[in-house]
Amino acid sequence: MSAMETFLADFDAGKDEGRYIPGELPSLPFEGGKFDIALSSHFLFLYSAHLSAEFHLRALQEMLRVSREVRVFPLLTLDSASSPHLHCVNEHLANNGFDVEVKHVPYEFQQGGNEMLVIKPV
Ligand SMILES: C[S@@+](CC[C@H](N)C(=O)[O-])C[C@H]1O[C@@H](n2cnc3c(N)ncnc32)[C@H](O)[C@@H]1O
Repeated sequence: MSAMETFLADFDAGKDEGRYIPGELPSLPFEGGKFDIALSSHFLFLYSAHLSAEFHLRALQEMLRVSREVRVFPLLTLDSASSPHLHCVNEHLANNGFDVEVKHVPYEFQQGGNEMLVIKPV
């Protein structure tokens, strides 16, 4: 609720100032290297039954194009199972010049969902 209230209080000013820009993975409307960090919360890996491993990889590659670091949380599906895409996506990124780390975090919204993926260029 606190996060929602903070967002709603900022939304009109943020739109006027051009800080809220619509976009849709796997293609983002930003130039390369525009951001320090890109976050995906409760989207990638959560909808593994609806979105393919290829979509996940393309989405993460696009986030890595526009940002120096990518973080994804949590790493579970809607059924609270470990995502079936996680291993192959991580392996592909690790074999293509990225440092890929799964970190435990103290926040757990979904039961068992206390892991975050952190990806950076090596
Ligand atoms: C479960 S909500 C999570 C919202 C918020 N990130 C959070 O953690 O509370 C999933 C979000 O994914 C967004 N979404 C759906 N398809 C998307 C796409 N192709 N690219 C980027 N975001 C997408 C939806 O608009 C929605 O806001």
